[in-house]
Amino acid sequence: MNKDVIIACDFNSKEDLIAFLDKFQEEKPFLKIGMELFYAEGPAIVKEVKERGHKIFLDLKLHDIPNTVKKAISVLSHLDVDLTNIHAAGTIAMMEAALEGFTKADGTRGQLIAVTQLTSTSEERMKSDLLIEAGLEETVMHYAKNAKVAKLDGIVCSPWEARKVKDVCGEDFLTITPGVRFADGDAGDQVRIATPEKARELGSDYIVVGRPITQAADPVAAYRRCMKEFLG
Ligand code: C5P
Repeated sequence: MNKDVIIACDFNSKEDLIAFLDKFQEEKPFLKIGMELFYAEGPAIVKEVKERGHKIFLDLKLHDIPNTVKKAISVLSHLDVDLTNIHAAGTIAMMEAALEGFTKADGTRGQLIAVTQLTSTSEERMKSDLLIEAGLEETVMHYAKNAKVAKLDGIVCSPWEARKVKDVCGEDFLTITPGVRFADGDAGDQVRIATPEKARELGSDYIVVGRPITQAADPVAAYRRCMKEFLG
């Protein structure tokens, strides 16, 4: 398992993304492309970034009926992204259909992970709005187990949940963790944060880091620091 730092490219245009990537002359960081950039620029942005030699986590969080997700993710499979995701809330049947759709005719596929409960959903809201009576952590662990049953590769979670997820779903089950901040950095709107070093100790496989790198005075130096602290 190759641990890595994934930079969240939360830019709303190709120009801003390319200007950011041009700063990296020696490294080819693993990048996360989300809905904002994908909806603004379309699949062409994924192809262009791939041609520049980057690995890509396409963060589109698919959630629909199994057949629709299977067909949609089959279209995405031809973009040859390294990692993509779907909502575990779509049920085990939807996750299984997604895995089938993401697997190309030659049997190869990128890694497929599940979003459990979004970190923006509080336990209170989960109960009042979604009528889920189980606790938040219990729900996250249950969704993680469902993703494992559906034979997905892992889940997105907080670094603070990574150890427990691995204890329940196995060491090989990937934990992709946002909410990472440098010890001397600004937390911004993230609440349950961990440093890159702490995330490694807690068992994260990939850390997703946005603003501490994209908004840094020197993004390349911030990326190098992040890699050094995370990989040890
Ligand atoms: O700038 P920052 O490091 O907070 O960016 C974290 C990235 O991870 C953002 O793209 C955010 O949308 C994403 N993310 C998150 N928490 C989740 C899932 C995704 O922060 N639970």
